[in-house]
Amino acid sequence: MPVRITKFREMKRAGEPIPCITAYDYPTAKLADAAGIPLILVGDSLGNVVLGFGSTVHVTMDDMVRHTQAVVRGASEALIVADMPFMSYQASIEDAVRNAGRLVQEAGAHAVKLEGGKSVADAVERITEAGIPVLGHLGLTPQSVNQLGGYRIQGRTLPQAQEMLEDAEALEAAGAFGIVLESVPGPLAQVVTKCLRVPTIGIGAGAGCDGQIQVLHDVLGLSDRLPKHGKQYANLKQIIEEALAAYAGDVRDRNFPTAEHTTEIDDAVLRELMGDVPIDR
Ligand code: KIV
Repeated sequence: MPVRITKFREMKRAGEPIPCITAYDYPTAKLADAAGIPLILVGDSLGNVVLGFGSTVHVTMDDMVRHTQAVVRGASEALIVADMPFMSYQASIEDAVRNAGRLVQEAGAHAVKLEGGKSVADAVERITEAGIPVLGHLGLTPQSVNQLGGYRIQGRTLPQAQEMLEDAEALEAAGAFGIVLESVPGPLAQVVTKCLRVPTIGIGAGAGCDGQIQVLHDVLGLSDRLPKHGKQYANLKQIIEEALAAYAGDVRDRNFPTAEHTTEIDDAVLRELMGDVPIDR
């Protein structure tokens, strides 16, 4: 049965950890879905790990729509959350509602995610009122990397920690069905988790969150650099490098394709076509 947002609050209440992963295309969405992962995020980390940009700020609504469509086609069970890219919700609440609507109506997402706390609470409220579930995102919010002065842990000081708690409460009050906590000290993430009824999904926020999310390419060993909070469960980079080198070697050595990969044609057709010109078989 397809996962609905109510499932995540039930899992929190039952103390059942929530595994989440990012995906950006049809084949990996299919694999994540088959693995029984209940929430797939089409993250704007797309910009870094798939499109090769240095940050997420270059990702556009059209990028998100296209990749979300592919993920939706690949997954039949998981809840698909699409990230709202930079500047798709910051300029006005009308933009926020319209663009969230596009991710659901055009791309097929079941929910959207956006970054920020109190400053986006009104937008979260209006989007949820429009019938679109929203996942919040606090702590290290990569779309604000230039404002934050780099990719660093957030909420280390008392004022920052207090503000994060207030932001989390504001998002919950605005209707968010869950909140991603990225690069937050473990004990602070635990406090936020305890204070909320909706689940927290951590990345670099310790084991005290209700769920965990990781970037697919980090987990599979396809990233250039594994972040401190990441864990690599396979080395696909090495497997792919070896496979491609073997393929190129076979082509160079004329070991591929062989007769087994080749379709034959009737000799009579060939004679008609070529006369007596000899053809290597
Ligand atoms: O874009 C993304 O992949 C994310 C996760 C890191 C939570 O926002």
